[in-house]
Amino acid sequence: MNWDQLRLAVSNCTACPLYEKRNQTVFGVGDENADWLFVGEGPGAREDATGEPFVGQAGQLLDQMLAAIKLNRGQQVYITNIVKCRPPNNRNPSANEARQCKSYLTRQIALIKPKLIVALGKVAAQNLLQCEDSISSLRGKVHDYSGIPLIVTYHPAYLLRSLPEKAKAWKDLCFAQSTMQSIE
Ligand code: URA
Ligand code: SF4
Repeated sequence: MNWDQLRLAVSNCTACPLYEKRNQTVFGVGDENADWLFVGEGPGAREDATGEPFVGQAGQLLDQMLAAIKLNRGQQVYITNIVKCRPPNNRNPSANEARQCKSYLTRQIALIKPKLIVALGKVAAQNLLQCEDSISSLRGKVHDYSGIPLIVTYHPAYLLRSLPEKAKAWKDLCFAQSTMQSIE
């Protein structure tokens, strides 16, 4: 599938129960040849209403996180989620929902060919790395996703609730930046 075919397939998808309550699918946004890929969990209310990932409060914090390492959405950055439809009441996507949605993300990654993937939070990290490990044990290391380096940090929505962890997230971003510099 090329980008247009993939976008169409996602917008018509009924492969898992999340399609029933969505207003629209949230495909992803940014530079289709980005070096950086940020992966969140799934759309929230604002994202479901607008069709763009990370546009609510957590998204504003994500934009600040990007700015801290001199990035912005659209330039060398692509942003998407594990599931493309909003889980009701912002619950975590189930293992089945994530599994059903996985081929879209896999194809996005194949098309983008990012140099580095940043997993935002537990759901993204555990699904991408196919493990059950905690964020604290996954942070601070370079993991491997099908040959692409992958770094784990906290989800911005979690950081909004737990400000003391913000400093750790900033450390993760610096680690990601230096990892990227060593790749380039
Ligand atoms: N949280 C996510 O994980 N993804 C979004 O797109 C918005 C909030
Ligand atoms: Fe399809 Fe993914 Fe939406 Fe489920 S979450 S309906 S698999 S696009």
